[in-house]
Amino acid sequence: MSTPLRATVAFQELIGSMRQHWANQLYPALHERYRNIDHGATPAMADQAIAQISQTPLYQWFAFIERHYQRMKYSDPRWGLAANFESRPEWVRERLAAAESSPYLELNPTLPIPAYYREIDIHQHPGNLIGADYDGLMYQASATSIHPNTRRFEAHERFGDRVLSRRRFQAVLNMGCGFGKCTFPIAARLPEAIVTGIDLSAPCLRLAAATLPDTGLPNVRLAQRDALRSGYADASFDLVTSTQLLHELPVDDIRLVLQESFRLLEPGGEVMHLDFRPQGRWMEFLLDGHAVRNNEGFMPAFNRLDMVAAMQDAGFVDIAIEPFAETEGATRADWPYWRFPWTLFRAVKPL
Ligand SMILES: C[S@@+](CC[C@H](N)C(=O)[O-])C[C@H]1O[C@@H](n2cnc3c(N)ncnc32)[C@H](O)[C@@H]1O
Repeated sequence: MSTPLRATVAFQELIGSMRQHWANQLYPALHERYRNIDHGATPAMADQAIAQISQTPLYQWFAFIERHYQRMKYSDPRWGLAANFESRPEWVRERLAAAESSPYLELNPTLPIPAYYREIDIHQHPGNLIGADYDGLMYQASATSIHPNTRRFEAHERFGDRVLSRRRFQAVLNMGCGFGKCTFPIAARLPEAIVTGIDLSAPCLRLAAATLPDTGLPNVRLAQRDALRSGYADASFDLVTSTQLLHELPVDDIRLVLQESFRLLEPGGEVMHLDFRPQGRWMEFLLDGHAVRNNEGFMPAFNRLDMVAAMQDAGFVDIAIEPFAETEGATRADWPYWRFPWTLFRAVKPL
């Protein structure tokens, strides 16, 4: 079977439409309800308002959709993504075939995989990203519906623009590169640089390597390495980046990633980690719920981590934490729709 069943396509479209409804109708209604509750001036009053809204059918429907439609997207036994790719092994093999002979891909089958990564189905992705050959394809198919108000890859392209606006880097490390969503836009904007993407997930790296010839980019390298202990020599890069990596790590490992970023940079080099940071009790509450509903258990601790202090502890200076607009207008105060509070954490290694 080379194409997905019509029923699978229809089901996945239903999930996508539900996500749109959730982000653009349910969320504004829920936010309006919260604004209409007196959440007062003290943290205790805000907590009371949160407790009150948690009991409303509107919030419970919002939470149900977030958890269960994501679960059905992956794991519905007939029309879920896992069943779809499982039923088309030849198509998967062909799609990834170009990776086998790629001179730009370095895999390490004996790489130790950290426990947090082995034991949690993050995003509700069955087996996380190291369970099956098609995990990269499945993550790619899923990742397009999780941010319903951005064009495909828009956030990552805008991040590439942001990188380019800083300076013309020569040696870039992109940690947790997945299937290349961020690595490719950076490499396209810095043709004179070598951009290296590393990830724990061999299936994601294979998909990135299989996609690479279509991009026409000669300056991408891909390697199966751990961002916590990458094995590259000191001062190998002038820019270390990641997108949506930090919130997936236990707090102690975030500190290790910052230390590793520092070690890998040459003096004067820059770090730019793009992630999320809630401002205020309302968004913190929603992300705490999201963490439970989407199996992203380390997110609440990351949200409360003092990142300025953590980057200082790693040795960085010129630390800036800036809101990041993943699409035009998204950081406006009157933006009505659901969005993750994208935030850029950047700093410099002193000369
Ligand atoms: C949410 S995904 C983000 C992927 C991509 N950066 C993006 O923005 O679409 C997090 C990625 O980090 C990778 N990852 C998690 N822990 C890692 C580690 N210790 N070292 C390298 N990659 C890691 C995962 O395999 C996954 O591809």
